[in-house]
Amino acid sequence: LQHEQAAQWWAGRVRGDLLARAHLREGRRDPYPVYEALRARGDLVPTRLGNLVTTSHAVTGEVLRSRRFGVVPLDPVDAPAAASGADLSFLQLDPPDHTRLRRLAAPAFSPRMMASYEAMVQARVGALLDAAAARGRFDLVADLAAPLPVGVISTMMGVDDADAAALQRYGAALASALDGVASLRHLREVMGAATALEAQFAGLVERRRTDPQDDLVSVLVCELGEGEGAALSAGEILPMCTLLLVAGFETTVNLIGSAVLALQRDPDQWRALVADPSLASAAVEETLRWDPPVHETARVAHEDVELAGTTVRRGQWVVTLLAATGRDPRVYADPARFDLHRTPGAQHLAFSSGIHYCVGASLARLEATVALRELAVRMPDLRVDGRVVRRPTTTIRGPLRVPVAVGGGA
Ligand code: HEM
Repeated sequence: LQHEQAAQWWAGRVRGDLLARAHLREGRRDPYPVYEALRARGDLVPTRLGNLVTTSHAVTGEVLRSRRFGVVPLDPVDAPAAASGADLSFLQLDPPDHTRLRRLAAPAFSPRMMASYEAMVQARVGALLDAAAARGRFDLVADLAAPLPVGVISTMMGVDDADAAALQRYGAALASALDGVASLRHLREVMGAATALEAQFAGLVERRRTDPQDDLVSVLVCELGEGEGAALSAGEILPMCTLLLVAGFETTVNLIGSAVLALQRDPDQWRALVADPSLASAAVEETLRWDPPVHETARVAHEDVELAGTTVRRGQWVVTLLAATGRDPRVYADPARFDLHRTPGAQHLAFSSGIHYCVGASLARLEATVALRELAVRMPDLRVDGRVVRRPTTTIRGPLRVPVAVGGGA
């Protein structure tokens, strides 16, 4: 049943995303010209499947913050399984379930907790860079950008390092499905990964029931109960663990990879960071605006809504192209230029907005800032040295492989 629900859920997503996908097929390598073509057609552009897509910063912000839109269609015919709570937990739920579940996870990402993780992040970055520097040439993704977030979120959740590699594989399979499922084989792979991931977390939950530790899964286990007043049911804890794990590393890896590519593309920008490593956090924000990891999300109208001169009908999806909003010329001057010294205009929407605003935004910022700062301090002569390979997906974007060299290691 769970598989059946998940299959329906993905089908729902494909319909929701759809839209954008039809438009974006030709933009896989470089979606930005496609976004500009859409922008030229107006703030709300109809898609072939009868939905709408927007590149506008203002319209996207309005949709994401409006209570008249949700992530689950109200009409059951359009909402086979999203309401079941399967898979990606509260990311795919509307209030009140969203509110109840998000409240359980949010304290782990509070400013106080972030301060307590800083030393751990710093130590992990240091160890990864020491190992990489010893080799002279390395892959910025495989040797830094990927292991850092997996290691950090695994530690927070209480997953052993030994299990983290398997979780990384399963998580990557799940993230690949955010673009929709391409074939029956892909569907089977995604389902297999979902089952294996949940089985791993089920084992961890059982261990923490009898032997709680100082980690996030132990905190969630304490909230478990059945019936009306319970904060978290047995069926909800595993999807929540999956969400935190997958959201925690399939995104941050791309932020670090894309930031390094952006800085290396223009040697003046990399030199500016090397001269003043405290610019690392500005580099992270500019990357989030200019080439963010999550390119789109979508909301469905829960009632007829007047938006940008158009009536969005109940049940219609609006695809919000988060990556396009970062280049909206009504908000950012010279938007296609990556500039570390940019005076921040409006807040970018790379972490979304409204009630689904990314729970892990501060953690992602912390990891990426420490990674960039340490790269600039320890490897001032870092250079891209080989063919960069990009992810083939359109929802989650970033490099898969960035060969780099330092010192005489060319
Ligand atoms: C939600 C982006 C890192 C956990 C979101 C959303 C976006 C996003 C765009 C909202 C999607 C929507 O509105 O439909 C990113 C980016 C990241 C990042 C770009 C890295 C650069 C993280 C990390 C974690 C995390 C490190 C946790 C460890 C979550 C969770 C949600 C979420 C749990 C669901 C929030 C909700 O539905 O209320 N993220 N994220 N994210 N993110 Fe992140």
